[in-house]
Amino acid sequence: MEILKVEDLCKTYGTGEAKVEAVKHVSFSMSRGEFGAVVGVSGSGKSTLLHCIGGLDTADNGKVFLNGKDLFQMTESERTIFRRRNVGFIFQSFHLVQELNVEQNIIFPLLLDYKNPDMEQVEEMLEVLGLENRRYHFPGQLSGGQQQRAAIGRALITRPALVLADEPTGNLDSKSSQDVMDLLLRASRHFKQTVLMITHNMNLTTSADRVFRVADGKLEELGGGQA
Ligand SMILES: Nc1ncnc2c1ncn2[C@@H]1O[C@H](COP(=O)(O)OP(=O)(O)OP(=O)(O)O)[C@@H](O)[C@H]1O
Ligand SMILES: [Mg+2]
Repeated sequence: MEILKVEDLCKTYGTGEAKVEAVKHVSFSMSRGEFGAVVGVSGSGKSTLLHCIGGLDTADNGKVFLNGKDLFQMTESERTIFRRRNVGFIFQSFHLVQELNVEQNIIFPLLLDYKNPDMEQVEEMLEVLGLENRRYHFPGQLSGGQQQRAAIGRALITRPALVLADEPTGNLDSKSSQDVMDLLLRASRHFKQTVLMITHNMNLTTSADRVFRVADGKLEELGGGQA
């Protein structure tokens, strides 16, 4: 089943001398439960592509279909709600709410959507993340790896069809990086969530189902598949 379909996506920043074609005619699709890794040198357009796919940024041209819905046909507020329900974001710099503890950060997306958190599910999530004994800690009291695991919990708690991760292991040591990778793989395998993860760490691409490279705004699929 196709979860994500990207058609001829283009994104340009600036004009004249400052014009940068960050994403150029990108087309590809991903099925339910697939794990994709995205590599590419700094400035090649990886984050811009991810932001456009997740509707955090608008594209100049092209289409993004998520669960069959055309993201750019929605109004801004429709897209915000749709994104909240269907996309989980994980960033290199965690972006946790400092005033909320681990448990509150994890259930935050549910509260935003006026949903009552299922405490059994929250409990299970804390356990999977290995954060049961940190649930009442605030982000400032956690290690980088623990903060990233909390951020992953927040991204996964709504069971989004698509998880977009922008260098989630960029600030972590190799052990924590592997833990984060294992968590994302588990989400993808266990809950059939589609994951697209940008990484500079080639070791982490070996477990991915598909590997894409972004070079100068263009996307190509490595390893024989079709981009
Ligand atoms: N808000 C912006 N305004 C203008 N140009 C931008 C903006 N964001 C990104 N760019 C440009 O678009 C290009 C792609 O940037 P992007 O952040 O997508 O790269 P990246 O592949 O994620 O790099 P990195 O690995 O360093 O994170 C860069 O050349 C950058 O200068
Ligand atoms: Mg980037």
